[in-house]
Amino acid sequence: MAEVLNKTIDEAIQGTALAPSTDDEGLLTKKFYIESYGCAMNFSDSEIVASILKEEGYAATTIMEEADLFLINTCSIREKAEQTVRNRLHIFRREKKKKAGALIGVLGCMAERLKAKLLEEEKLVDIVIGPDAYRSLPSLIKEAEGGQKGVNVLLSREETYADISPVRLDNNGVSAFVSIMRGCNNMCTFCVVPFTRGRERSRDAESILQECRTLFNEGYKEITLLGQNVDSYHFTPQHEQDQHNSVTFALLLEMVAQISPQLRVRFSTSHPKDITDEVLFTMAKYPNICKYIHLPVQSGNTAVLQRMNRTYTREWYLNKVKRIKEIMPEADISTDIIVGFCGETEEEHQDTLSLMDVCKFSLAYMYNYSERPGTLAERRYTDDVPETVKQRRLEEIIAMYRRHSLLNYQASVGQTFEVLIEATSKRSEAHWSGRNSQNKVVVFPKGSYDLDKANYVMVKITSATSGTLLGEIVSV
Ligand code: SAH
Ligand code: SF4
Ligand code: F3S
Repeated sequence: MAEVLNKTIDEAIQGTALAPSTDDEGLLTKKFYIESYGCAMNFSDSEIVASILKEEGYAATTIMEEADLFLINTCSIREKAEQTVRNRLHIFRREKKKKAGALIGVLGCMAERLKAKLLEEEKLVDIVIGPDAYRSLPSLIKEAEGGQKGVNVLLSREETYADISPVRLDNNGVSAFVSIMRGCNNMCTFCVVPFTRGRERSRDAESILQECRTLFNEGYKEITLLGQNVDSYHFTPQHEQDQHNSVTFALLLEMVAQISPQLRVRFSTSHPKDITDEVLFTMAKYPNICKYIHLPVQSGNTAVLQRMNRTYTREWYLNKVKRIKEIMPEADISTDIIVGFCGETEEEHQDTLSLMDVCKFSLAYMYNYSERPGTLAERRYTDDVPETVKQRRLEEIIAMYRRHSLLNYQASVGQTFEVLIEATSKRSEAHWSGRNSQNKVVVFPKGSYDLDKANYVMVKITSATSGTLLGEIVSV
């Protein structure tokens, strides 16, 4: 998942970005401060939480000192992710002590994984609430205000928050995430997500379309449809007479793309076993569906993939990549890789390197295997690759990825792309920054054109680094 989906992944901090507000009588309302960690689903969930709190009269603040309620939306994917959260909780505690009556709430996957234990481990935490229980946040706050610590970590088979209009946080006004499903039914042996997010369920297609239309009408130009495994999206309407109208991911993608040719559509994440030709042909048919697929491989060796329970082989993955390139030669593919999974031999590691050499990923997120309590891998296998070996293998993978991404970016030099402007470049007021369909960041001089963010512009690429394309406007 792109820059933020890259947050899909990582332990980025995000404070919310809403102005303090007042209630009808002009009195200052209560304020909450929220930080989100982990994947884009978590960032998207924080926007649902913001909406639930707004109904209760809370306003968001990015300034900790102003807050009455401190929230942290947490990730459990690797041990380091949890450590980051614990470090932040120390800071929260310090702030809480400064303000009588302030509360701390832990949300998300770590709340789900540790449940009430978190209250014992992290003193001063008042509320522990799992990903499917956010509707109960107001009642837990009330209980906590009365001095009673509250936990709700019930997972649901139905909850999709379909009727809740998210309050956009971290808002560039150009691109937004829309959750289309929750949970995951795959049982990758290394992964904690099925335990923290529960069973897979698809959100009502009409509510997704409604949210996308609203975003477009508000000026957003890019939507990323989110799920742990978007290709298994499948929504069947409840009314019997509509049941033949069940919606697959390919159909949903098409319906969102049809909202307007001016609205870019992205999605994340695809599972190599599930992405279909139908999805690929739909992508090829609509110029506004971005030609970019995040297709996590995890390992290039079939035996390791089997131990991971990924349910595809090295050959299957390579064939998928070939198929994507046949149908959309211009598409870029990115990936996730885990090194040092249980029992990984040197030859198995070499297979990952050789697969990378064939696929030449434009972007890769690479991790040392981190054993997670309760996962199938923890129960079945031994985490037996020494840390030093994991680290060395990771460095080899990263070095190869860097060579490939540089080549991949350099191959764009001389080409012209349609770029959606996102913001002024962080490095220079005189430059715009945006992305092309392949999800590559493109930076170019503003010149004398009358442009603004959310505009599309044609940019010819003049040079490249391994993470950015530099270019010049050729037409607007
Ligand atoms: N649903 C997505 C992945 C979600 S987690 C998918 O199936 O592709 C994002 C990434 O974190 C995974 O792709 C994997 O590479 C990494 N990851 C998950 N569990 C991990 C673990 N225990 N140790 C290291 N990396 C892990
Ligand atoms: Fe985890 Fe696998 Fe589900 Fe992805 S598909 S969330 S890696 S169990
Ligand atoms: Fe996402 Fe981390 Fe949970 S990656 S689903 S926030 S464990």
